[in-house]
Amino acid sequence: MRAGPLRQLAYRHRWIYDGVTALSSLPVGGPGRLRALAAEWLIESVAPGAAVLDLCCGSGEAAAPLLAAGLAVTGLDISDRALELAARRHPRLQLVQGLAEQPPLAAGAWAGIQLSLALHEFPASERRALLRSARRLIQPGGVLVLLDLHQAGPLLAPLQQLFCNLFETETAQAFLALNLEAELAACGWQLERRQLFAAGALQRLLCRPLAPAPCP
Ligand SMILES: C[S@@+](CC[C@H](N)C(=O)[O-])C[C@H]1O[C@@H](n2cnc3c(N)ncnc32)[C@H](O)[C@@H]1O
Repeated sequence: MRAGPLRQLAYRHRWIYDGVTALSSLPVGGPGRLRALAAEWLIESVAPGAAVLDLCCGSGEAAAPLLAAGLAVTGLDISDRALELAARRHPRLQLVQGLAEQPPLAAGAWAGIQLSLALHEFPASERRALLRSARRLIQPGGVLVLLDLHQAGPLLAPLQQLFCNLFETETAQAFLALNLEAELAACGWQLERRQLFAAGALQRLLCRPLAPAPCP
């Protein structure tokens, strides 16, 4: 997948990735707060100690608040390197390597699923496959919390474009133009709550499974 020049450098030098994340997360209060946003809604939506899934968990930053809240957290990611780092940082985090769109996980086993800062990295067909696979994994009445980019208002839009061109994958532009609510519905999810941050450049969504699930 094609990525902006800064992202290609950041793949090789972790400090660049962390520096860009620190800078871009300032409007929400820094990287720790950014990585806690999805977890906040997930924690308040599930029972104490519930089994929850962090899809595309990366090196575990967004799973940390779920673990701290006493939930039974499984993280799935495709990257060996990210999973190794997550395992070192969070010994209680159950880790699974696999594709989020074809996860090697039990259907209907999870009270809650979070997808933090990952959906915009997927091409359209994989993105829909991922949302459908999350629908298969969720328990009846469970909850999906998404944190991702949102099309900024006119004042911030040029800065957001620059950020996407330099740092994001090519899929981010298409994601910003997407009618996400309609796509969620087509994949078996009803949007229940949406909150915007960073002058509209970031969104947090809480979704519930529609019944019956759509065909795979
Ligand atoms: C921007 S990082 C977000 C990490 C974490 N959720 C967070 O909020 O910090 C996106 C993650 O998605 C993972 N990823 C990308 N495509 C994937 C796929 N098809 N299946 C599983 N993980 C994938 C990458 O390896 C990366 O760790």
